[in-house]
Amino acid sequence: MITAPHSDALIIFGITGDLAYRKIFPALQAMVQRGELDIPIIGVARSDWTSDKLRNRARESLERSGGVDPGAFAKLSAQLRYIQGDYQNADTYGRLRQALSGVARPLHYLAIPPSIFGVVMQGLAKAGCTENARVIVEKPFGRDLASAQELNRTLLEVFPESAVFRIDHYLGKEAVQNLLYFRFANTFLEPIWNRNYVDSVQITMAETFGVQGRGGFYEEVGAIRDVVQNHMLEVMALLAMDAPVGHDPESMRAEKLRLLHAVQPLRTDQIVRGQFRGYREEEAVAAGSRVETFAALRLQIDTWRWAGVPFYIRAGKCMPITAIEVMVRLKGPPLAIFRASAPAKSNYFRFRLSPEVVISAGTLVKEPGEEMRGKATELVARHLLDGESPPYARLLSDAIRGDVSLFTSRESVEAAWRVIDPILGNTAPIAEYEPGTWGPAAAAKIVAGDEGWHDPKPEVSKPC
Ligand code: BG6
Repeated sequence: MITAPHSDALIIFGITGDLAYRKIFPALQAMVQRGELDIPIIGVARSDWTSDKLRNRARESLERSGGVDPGAFAKLSAQLRYIQGDYQNADTYGRLRQALSGVARPLHYLAIPPSIFGVVMQGLAKAGCTENARVIVEKPFGRDLASAQELNRTLLEVFPESAVFRIDHYLGKEAVQNLLYFRFANTFLEPIWNRNYVDSVQITMAETFGVQGRGGFYEEVGAIRDVVQNHMLEVMALLAMDAPVGHDPESMRAEKLRLLHAVQPLRTDQIVRGQFRGYREEEAVAAGSRVETFAALRLQIDTWRWAGVPFYIRAGKCMPITAIEVMVRLKGPPLAIFRASAPAKSNYFRFRLSPEVVISAGTLVKEPGEEMRGKATELVARHLLDGESPPYARLLSDAIRGDVSLFTSRESVEAAWRVIDPILGNTAPIAEYEPGTWGPAAAAKIVAGDEGWHDPKPEVSKPC
């Protein structure tokens, strides 16, 4: 196997922002703890901060998210420094160039709005900071198909595709990785994983909280751009794709892309949009905003494996529970031999992807007694509660090592936008829903004809 050279400095644009605070600092500490981060880290942003202020911010972030490990934090602090500068100003990149003297392969992380990607990349290129460099770009990658294509063109003017790491942190989640593993490391699933046995597939991403002070960001995106175009379609692709034909990252990406190409572009009758009551009173949200905080969709995958099997996606803020769950419902037996005491379609696979990691199979088991009467019983195939390193830690380590396996290719990002593009904006009406509910009543029409939405419940913790 050819190993790519490691990057020897990490430059984080937008280090003063919310993403760095919530996800990046905890990931950096976890990487130091595991001995995976011993390169200089340079934060760049517009705010008038110093390196010490940045270290304090990192400490606050860690205190809020699980704790400061004094040894790891001391190391991290020593590696961390700050460059204040306007992204439009050539001087910012000149100072960065100086700070990078002796660095041969910098890794630039653009944790900034996509509208300024172009400016930063040009600034880096002019200052000579892009040679042998890699770049990580955050989601949302564009606002629609046209802007994603434009962004890709801009990126690829400066970096070759092999140096571009489009991050979707869901791909770094242990449970999401396990979906792929469970499917392709076992043989029993493959014979039934198709239109002959699968009745429907549902993916629900529910969060009890609202926009958490990110009203300005959310007004620009809404639920569909924020999590459906990326996280949800990625999970769907891992559930539905064929097995890769090789071990290299490109084979995996190729199969995923093939699947995404087969997903039919959405029509407005395949989506219901909702907005929780109170969203319009959030800071930086327009009084008459029609941005969705909930979306329910019905997708169609036109392959021999999946033709006719509905794939449902539901994502929302202010839901009754925080959980990500996949429900693969199987068809019922051809004849009802035993007296019906449970729904005909009692067989399913349930994948709880967050906050717990659970895989279970829904079965009917005979109840003790003379009657042939069944009881719905779940066989829990896997149940792990801890031990996961933050997805961002895994992905940043991969990017430093130059491993693109868990990053999204240009074609995949564009293929996902192609699916979503027709329903963006206010193409579909928006209905208000009460916080703490499963979204607007109209969402039921998306699953009409099927057995209704499967609502994730609090997981009952059982040992393996
Ligand atoms: C982010 C979205 O990408 O994912 C957020 O912008 C969402 O709106 C978050 O809350 C969920 O990620 P996780 O890892 O906390 O489930």
